[in-house]
Parts: sequence; C-alpha cells; structure tokens
Amino acid sequence: MTAEQTQAIRFPVDADRMHRFDPEMTAMILAYVEERLAIVETPVDGLGDRAVLEQAVAGLIGDDPRDAREVLDIYVEHMADTILSADSPRFFAFIPAAPTKASLLFDMVVSAASLQGCSWLEAAGAVIAENQALRVMADIAGMPASSGGVFVSGGSAGNLSALVVARDMARRKRIEQGLPEIRLRVVVSDQAHSSIRSALNITGMDALIVPTLDGRLEGQFLREALDEDPDLSDIAAIVATCGTTNAGIIDDLVAAADVAREHDWWFHVDGAYGGAGMLSAGIRDRYLGVERADSLVMDPHKWWFAPFDSAALLYREPHLAKSVHTQDAAYLDVIHEDDDDFNPSDLAYHLTRRARGMALWFSMAVNGLNAYRDAVDHALLMATYAADRIDEHPDLHLLRRPDLSVILFRRVGWLHADYEQWGQRLLRDQTAFVTHSAWRGETVARLVFLHPGTTTAMVDEVLATLSSGNYRA
Ligand SMILES: Cc1ncc(COP(=O)(O)O)c(C=O)c1O
Repeated sequence: MTAEQTQAIRFPVDADRMHRFDPEMTAMILAYVEERLAIVETPVDGLGDRAVLEQAVAGLIGDDPRDAREVLDIYVEHMADTILSADSPRFFAFIPAAPTKASLLFDMVVSAASLQGCSWLEAAGAVIAENQALRVMADIAGMPASSGGVFVSGGSAGNLSALVVARDMARRKRIEQGLPEIRLRVVVSDQAHSSIRSALNITGMDALIVPTLDGRLEGQFLREALDEDPDLSDIAAIVATCGTTNAGIIDDLVAAADVAREHDWWFHVDGAYGGAGMLSAGIRDRYLGVERADSLVMDPHKWWFAPFDSAALLYREPHLAKSVHTQDAAYLDVIHEDDDDFNPSDLAYHLTRRARGMALWFSMAVNGLNAYRDAVDHALLMATYAADRIDEHPDLHLLRRPDLSVILFRRVGWLHADYEQWGQRLLRDQTAFVTHSAWRGETVARLVFLHPGTTTAMVDEVLATLSSGNYRA
C-alpha cells in the first residue's frame, strides 16, 4: 500500500464510540447498583409473562443507538421483577444464593477491569488471589498441600471436568497394563446429582448405581452392590456427595474413600451444595473422608456466599488434571514454557475464563472466615428450627431430621396439586419462594435455608400457611 493510499483510508467515524467513557451512563448504572445493594430484605419477585416481556423488548436492538436511560428503564420496569431473586432471604427453593456485599462489589471490579484468569503469564495477580481462596477451601476440607484447582462456572462443569480426568486416568492405567479400551463405569448412589448422570453421558461412561435406604450412600450397601457385580474391572471412579441436593444428606465418605483405595479407583466428592457445611464446627465430623478425595467440587455461588457463577474444583494432584485438560495449540505454547507453570485454564474443560474466584477471595479477606462460619451455622439453625416446628405441627410430618439445611416434609392429606398451589400462593403473596419435590415417589414440600437474613419469623410465616384453618389456594 502506498503512503497516499494509506492516507486515504477513512476509518469508520463511529468505531470507538461505544468504548469511550460515558460519565452519565456510568453514574446512572452505579446509582442503580447502589440502590439494589442497599435493599435490606430483597423481595422474592415474581414470574414473567412471555407475551408482555416480548412486547417490552420488541425492536429494542436496531442499527442505531438507543438512550441508555430508556433501556435501563425498560429493564427496571418490565424485566427486573420477573427474575426471581435467589438472594432473597425468603427464597427457599432449589439451592438459594446469598452473595456478600463485598463479593458483589468486587465482582464489578472483575467485570470493569476485564479480569481474566487463564494463565500465569496473562494474569499472575488473579491466579495468586484465586489460588489463595482455593487453598483456604482445600485446607478446610483437609486436602494435602499438593492439592489445587480452579474456579469453573458451576458444579456441573466441575463434576464433568473431574470425571474426564477420572476416565482418562483409568484409560491410561488400562493401556499401561496392556488391557483393551472398553466403556468404563462409575459407582454412584441413586441420589447423585443429575449433573453426574449428564457428565457420564458426555464422557461415554455408565453408572453402577448403589441403592440407598434413606438417601445416604452407606458402606454396607456400597459393598453389597459391588459384591453382586460380576466384574468390576471397568470401574473408573466412585462419586460420593456431601450434601445431596434434594435432602442435604452427607454420604459415608470414609466408606467411599476406603473402597476407592482398595480398588485404586478415582474418588470424586460432589460438595457443590453441602461442602460449605464443613465450616461449621458442630457438623465437621460428618465430612470425615472428604480429605481423601482425588477431586472435590464446592460451589461458591451456593453456600460460600459468592455471586453467580462459580464452583471451586479441587484436585489432590492438579498435575493429573493438567495432563488431561491442557489445550494444545501453537499460539498457546507461550503459556506452557515452564514445566511447573500454573495455568487455571489447564485444569478443566475451558480455555478463556473470567477470574470469577476473585469475588470470593476479596470477600473472604474482607469479612474473615469466622463470618462465614457464623453464616453457615445460621442456615443450619434455621433448618433445625423449621424441623422442630414441623415436628410439633399436627398437620405436618417431617420426613427426616436435616443433616444440613434442607427440610423435606409432608402436609398430611395433600396431593401434588395442593403443593403446587401452595407454592404459587406463597409467591403471589411474596411470603416466600418454595417449590415442591419428591421423596420415595411422593410429592413433598421442601425448604432450603442458606441466607443469613432468613429469620425464624419468616419460617413461622411460611409454616402458618399450612395450618388447616389458614390454608387457602
Ligand atoms: C450436589 C450438587 N451437585 C451439582 C450441582 C450442580 O451445580 P451447578 O448448578 O452449579 O451446575 C448441584 C446444584 O444444585 C448440586 O446440588
């Protein structure tokens, strides 16, 4: 290209308009964020109507710019209230969230500064911070100094990434022993989270399902199931759960770890929801055996009070994960020049990743771990309180004492539709967000406690709606 041709290039006038600092839009968004953070008791909010929402956003994105205020107003007026607030102290469904203010604020820093956490080369400060938070979690679990890991987007991604390593380790062993490649299996309980089934499907493995009597993977049933199986040579791993999602049950981790060691299988522990319970001194002994895990998943976006979306994936020997997950491409060689380089991207199925663990890191440092211990204990107390009230209630039947912060109970005489209507009514009245579940084939009520702002009065309010005289659909 000649100098004249270069000079003649006309850059698009608007090329950098959307990247210029806009003080007005910045102030407007920060004011909205401040307002949201200042809410003392976040309401549960409600459901959305598809036609209304479609109408609200119709034609919003076009070739030309829109006023930021107009777009924010549409979000606030039409959309915000149709996104259920998982961080409401009255959100008792699924697994709630309760991110600390410090974690939410620092998450904004991660966004505003485009902090990624792929490799040591690109993001040393982020890697150090995330690893410090992971080290705290590994220490709480009692995992050895060699352990380490990475924050992934959620428990499902963590379980999948861990099981990929488990599968490949089993494959390698077979190759070393001169055995043919076969379809592998993983030992799981009938209460393992749905993401485990999904991970097995993706990794091309099958499940050897161990039945449970009371929802807990017990050593005796585990050994019986294995004894009954004619050939265990295709087993790659055993998965135990510390905090089943439906009922908050902690499996017999010692038995699972023993079995894994006897057979030289990978031992994976899914603590996506319940792992944080280890912060409570009162129940720490229930987790005995977790320290022997080859891989462990715990979700900060659940009971570690961090924003969506974040799961800590810890490996006993991270170099094994690295040998499986590292992506190989010429342009990536530069991040792998050191033999002992530590690149979070190498430890799970992903490459580019947000430095999502920094929100937890900042909050842990600012609040101190005692605050986390208290917050977890609060949820456990709420569950015990609710269980006691249910126990003494003539119309209610507690299905099992809670191990953690999940309660399952029956409203005597109710059928599936009654539970549905009850949940709808609680939401309509903004009393709570509650969804029903199933226990041994029966539809039952389920409450999950997690938010430190939940009070006994809120629990009483919910349970009062179940008394014969008070119930209305
Ligand atoms: C025990 C357990 N494992 C895995 C998951 C999946 O985690 P995520 O939703 O973060 O993918 C959950 C979610 O509730 C869970 O409770």
